[in-house]
Formats: sequence, structure tokens, C-alpha cells
Amino acid sequence: MKGDIQKKITYTDVISVEAYNKLRKSVNWITVAKNRARIALGNSFFLCVAVLGDTPIGMVRIISDGGYSYFITDVIVNPEYQGNHIGTELISKALEFIKKDVLEGETVMISLMSAYQREGFYKKFGFHQRPFGDHGSGMSVWVSRDEEGNVTSY
Ligand SMILES: CC(C)(COP(=O)(O)OP(=O)(O)OC[C@H]1O[C@@H](n2cnc3c(N)ncnc32)[C@H](O)[C@@H]1OP(=O)(O)O)[C@@H](O)C(=O)NCCC(=O)NCCS
Repeated sequence: MKGDIQKKITYTDVISVEAYNKLRKSVNWITVAKNRARIALGNSFFLCVAVLGDTPIGMVRIISDGGYSYFITDVIVNPEYQGNHIGTELISKALEFIKKDVLEGETVMISLMSAYQREGFYKKFGFHQRPFGDHGSGMSVWVSRDEEGNVTSY
């Protein structure tokens, strides 16, 4: 079953807002407002979507300044298909895309925010779990505005 799925998967660089939010929902992530999702997907520096039949079952995005800094985000494989090395294929394609552009004498930074207890998955690709050395922890904050107009950060 596992090997069979890999052979049937195709990879593309498009996904609809609806399919994007469906993938997010499959891993219990918040839904992104339609307009924001459209902008986010459109501004992707790199987007790779794993498709089975007509259905997106996994994805990865890179956002970047195009020069020095690359951020890997939206790494998702629908739980029904996890464990089939689809995530590996997606990350490999993203890293390949970045590495082929790094010329002799150049150094760039690739970063990401690992989900809870997913660090082991990324370590396989050479990512360091922060904090390490003089690198502190990654940091993030959510900012929301509710229907009454109140802004909260959490
Ligand atoms: C993380 C995720 C993308 C991995 O996708 P996947 O297709 O199931 O992963 P793969 O099948 O390619 O796994 C590759 C290897 O990593 C290992 N692995 C997977 N999840 C792991 C984890 N949490 N910790 C350690 N190792 C892990 C697998 O066992 C496999 O090992 P192997 O090469 O020795 O067989 C997927 O679990 C997922 O979408 N999770 C929910 C969303 C999420 O947390 N995304 C990450 C956000 S930063």
C-alpha cells in the first residue's frame, strides 16, 4: 500500500484556497481567511503540492526575500497519507529548489518553525533544533481581531 501511493502521486505548484484550508483542517490547524489565503498562496516563493487523483493530499511552501532568507512553512500531509514519505519528498523538493541557486562562496539561511514534536522529522534533513550554540529559540505570536473589533495577541 505504502509504495503504491508514492507511484500514484503527482506534484504541482497550484492549490485552491479551499483545498489549502481543507489540508490545514486535516491536521487541526486554523483556517486562514479566504482573502489572506489567496494572497499568501500567490506570494509563495515556492509551492509544491502532492496530488492523488484530483485531490491535494500534501503541500509545502517557501516564503523568501529571494536573496538570503528562506522560510519553509505549511508543511502538511493529510493524516490519511502520513508515513508514506510524502513529507520527505516535499521537503526534499523545497531544499533542492533552494540549494540549486546557492553559488560558490554564498551562504543563505533556511529556517522553519517545527510543530510540537515534529523536530525529529526535520532533523533528518540537517535542521538544528533551537536553541543551540548562540542561537536562541524560535519565537512567534498569533494576532487576531474578533467580530467586535478587539485585537488580541496570544
Ligand atoms: C510532519 C509531516 C509533514 C510528516 O509527513 P509524512 O509524509 O508523514 O512523513 P514521512 O513519511 O516523509 O516521514 C519521513 C521520516 O520522518 C519520520 N517522522 C515523521 N514524523 C516524525 C516525527 N514527528 N518525529 C520524528 N520522526 C518523524 C518518519 O518516521 C520517517 O522516518 P523514516 O525515513 O525512517 O521512515 C506530517 O506528519 C504532518 O503533516 N503532520 C501534521 C502537520 C505538521 O505538524 N506539519 C509540520 C509543521 S512544522
